[in-house]
Amino acid sequence: MDLQICYTASEDTFPLPRHIKERYGPFGFPAPADARRPYISSNFVMGLDGRASFRELEGRTDGRPVSRSREDRWLMDFLRAHHDAQLIGASTLREEPNPDGRGWDYGIDDEELRMYRQDILRLGRQKVLVLSGSGNIDVTLRIFSSPRVEAWIITAREGQKNLLSQIKRLGREGTIKILSVGEGTRVDFVAVTHLLRQEHGIQTLLCEGGPTLYGEFLKNQLIDEDFRTMSFQVLGESTKPGIDRPTAYGQVSYTPGTAPWFRLISLHYALPYHAFFRLRYEGPRKFQD
Ligand SMILES: NC(=O)c1ccc[n+]([C@@H]2O[C@H](COP(=O)([O-])OP(=O)(O)OC[C@H]3O[C@@H](n4cnc5c(N)ncnc54)[C@H](OP(=O)(O)O)[C@@H]3O)[C@@H](O)[C@H]2O)c1
Repeated sequence: MDLQICYTASEDTFPLPRHIKERYGPFGFPAPADARRPYISSNFVMGLDGRASFRELEGRTDGRPVSRSREDRWLMDFLRAHHDAQLIGASTLREEPNPDGRGWDYGIDDEELRMYRQDILRLGRQKVLVLSGSGNIDVTLRIFSSPRVEAWIITAREGQKNLLSQIKRLGREGTIKILSVGEGTRVDFVAVTHLLRQEHGIQTLLCEGGPTLYGEFLKNQLIDEDFRTMSFQVLGESTKPGIDRPTAYGQVSYTPGTAPWFRLISLHYALPYHAFFRLRYEGPRKFQD
């Protein structure tokens, strides 16, 4: 591991073991501006062209071929260790089959960080929340039986119906927590974040993508911070008609007057191919031009 600090202005609230603090620097979150919802961060890896997935190349759609970095893998675990819960979109789960076809469990691999979360931060088993409007989720995937994580599904009324009938067919009633927030297949994101904070005590939430889910959060001004790993490679466009390689920012569109800005909180790097940005949401800026 060769993670280097270039700059940090982070809060210093977490009791990091000394050698981790020497490697990463201080780490903490500010007091949340909106106490009705969790403090929400996101974490993505992207290429120089902003793209986050070799989408149409089966078996290579996930973040790994974009990342190719031990430091990035460690930082992902570092962030997972510090958040009460993680959130992923249903397409990410569907498109990342893992070589054995049963998907990933999105757990912390680094043993030291797993113990730090458990014994020092006492944040409990990792909660991984999967967001799906359709309810088209294969509940036999690894994430739903892994002892490392507790998987919940967040959906709306139609999705819940679909899920419950699948779960009943498999004889797995009562084994997966489902939260239904919204009518039809549309989940109300603001209501979800309020529910997570107020009914389930989730104070920090890490959005791990994909771009569509993240973009919806950004549009709803629900993003407080972005952790971005920049891999110095170019992904380029898909060659298959009708399939785009998404950027990390999904389907958002702004003008110079509405474009949200982010402030640099920390910058790390690992020579010679990676930089790691921590950015805090500020919103549109005013210019006299
Ligand atoms: N580079 C990275 O760090 C990184 C990180 C994560 C993912 N990825 C890649 O990104 C790709 C997937 O990203 P994506 O943007 O296509 O998909 P995504 O954001 O993972 O998931 C989109 C899905 O989330 C659900 N959803 C989103 N907004 C919703 C709303 N308001 N109401 C109800 N449901 C909603 C829908 O599920 P239903 O279809 O079930 O209704 C929708 O199809 C994959 O290739 C993945 O490997 C890369």
